[in-house]
Amino acid sequence: MNSSIKVRGERVDMLINDRVNSISNQGKNGDISDYIQIIPNSQSSFTPSEKPITIIKSFIQDRNTIKNMVKEMIGLIQNQYPAINQDQMLDRHKDIFYTVDYNPIFSDTKRIMLDILLGGNLDKFLFTSKIFKQLIEFYNINLRVDNVPIEYKSAPQVIYYPQGGGYFDWHSHPKLPTNYGMCLCLSEVSKVNSKSREISPQEISYASMNEGQMMFRDKDDIIISTDGLIDTGDLLIFDFGIDHCVSPCDVFKPLSFNGHGHWMAVHSLQKD
Ligand SMILES: [Fe+2]
Repeated sequence: MNSSIKVRGERVDMLINDRVNSISNQGKNGDISDYIQIIPNSQSSFTPSEKPITIIKSFIQDRNTIKNMVKEMIGLIQNQYPAINQDQMLDRHKDIFYTVDYNPIFSDTKRIMLDILLGGNLDKFLFTSKIFKQLIEFYNINLRVDNVPIEYKSAPQVIYYPQGGGYFDWHSHPKLPTNYGMCLCLSEVSKVNSKSREISPQEISYASMNEGQMMFRDKDDIIISTDGLIDTGDLLIFDFGIDHCVSPCDVFKPLSFNGHGHWMAVHSLQKD
């Protein structure tokens, strides 16, 4: 990856304890079956349920397409410097750019991540455009409603949470009349718990990760973690108004933007 990535925000040598504790995990654990509907694969019919979270297993079945999409995104990062929004007038609905956030002071929501906004023409990214076409088509068929304000548009985005503590703290989004977040897992999710033993180099695949997935919190402070439920190509759909976060990725590894960690393709409706 690009060794000249500029990191915004606090100093980079954050102590490992800070990373371990970066998400405030207060609350009661909830029973996932009360909150999550799991659909076996993308061929199954999808009906929004009363439950705020849906996981469609193997929404994208071809892992090579996913790997190639991550390669395209790494190529994008290597070929341009990150944008600093305050200095450049960039538009997430018209431009393609990325930022690197290290707990930026201008934001209420703490996070360590690389955020790629894909509002421009995606045609030069063959695999990325293919996957977003599928995501947007699914959204339009199953989730779109008529009374969304006109300024809200589809906003393709890829987020990379690096190994060594990449995360996104608790937040929620305007619900509009109806809005859903969609997150497609692009990483190879290891079945081996990194705390139980070292992983041999042969086991490490491209853009791999162990721990760190989305968590949700309801009005009664009940927390639902999707760790262990998500695999490569799985699509997570959630009510955009519910509190959510992404728990730290593989905190016991050194923090590094080396390609390993938690990659997700995100589709939602965004105003700006
Ligand atoms: Fe979010």
